[in-house]
Amino acid sequence: MNLKGKHFLTCDDWTNEELDVVFKRAAELKKEFYEEKPHLYLPHKTLFMIFFEQSTRTRNSMEAGMTQLGGHAHDLTADKMQLSHGESAKDTAIILSRMGHGIASRNCFYGIGADYLAEMAKHSTKPIMSLQDDIYHPFQGLADLMTIFEKFGNEPRGLKVTVSWAYADTHSKPLSVPQTQALLFPRFGIDLTIAHPKEFPLSKDIVERANKRAEENGTKINFTNDMDEAFEGAHVVIPKNWGGFGAYGVHEYLDNEDECKKEMKANLEKYHDWICDDRRIKLADKNVKLMHALPADRNHEVTDEVIDDPNISVVFDEAENRLHTAKAIMSLTM
Ligand code: CP
Repeated sequence: MNLKGKHFLTCDDWTNEELDVVFKRAAELKKEFYEEKPHLYLPHKTLFMIFFEQSTRTRNSMEAGMTQLGGHAHDLTADKMQLSHGESAKDTAIILSRMGHGIASRNCFYGIGADYLAEMAKHSTKPIMSLQDDIYHPFQGLADLMTIFEKFGNEPRGLKVTVSWAYADTHSKPLSVPQTQALLFPRFGIDLTIAHPKEFPLSKDIVERANKRAEENGTKINFTNDMDEAFEGAHVVIPKNWGGFGAYGVHEYLDNEDECKKEMKANLEKYHDWICDDRRIKLADKNVKLMHALPADRNHEVTDEVIDDPNISVVFDEAENRLHTAKAIMSLTM
């Protein structure tokens, strides 16, 4: 299967067969990484990375990944580039795609990020990769699924995974992680429960598409406003905060940003008790695994006791898999 040149903006644009090739490559690369065997799929190639926001896992999995594949990644931020003076996504994409072999960007501004990446993809002659935007976080989705395969086997049909909103006071996190999981997991046989307070829904369009994916693949998807109910019998729990953006349409939000942010903050304060703690873990399956994209807001989203329990928590395996899946995508597309 030739995936060279294919953009990676959302897992939704990739078939299950294409993603199977990615997971196979990621597993091979992981083995070679552990055996310290060189795997120079991209000698002398260049990736441009443009980060509009902070990152630990994504930035370093991509940059270390490029080095390990024999190439180099430029770590760019908006303030280093003429886009800070208004240079368009189109011109930026055309120019960088003439100088290198791939462009990756993180742009999570609500109502802007995914459109910015799509505009780059329209004009770039080299693959564009989303490093997270306001709608999708495809690299995180791959690492999550790879981790589930490793812990539960490659045929996770019937596995009950719970993605739950959780309280955090760090910043209004994008919807992109739960939305990617909602669209991706049902395609691979997973029964999904998504729990959130009523003021923190996923975007309406994503809920409709996720329901459709579950129906097409004979899997169950359940939305609830009850965190306890969502944890009952779960084999995997993913407690994570996200902002209340999904309660607003994009135009409604952008036209009234200050008021929406104020409302989201007031809503947030009602739900301090949405935490993954020992009591809730006991509601889940006795062999439950905790996953989290990280960074975790410790003792708000999840207690130290749970996230540091080696029998429950697989968050660092999941974070490490960001490297192997990033290398798989880059080595196949660039
Ligand atoms: N999970 C994730 O995307 O982490 P970073 O924000 O550190 O890249």
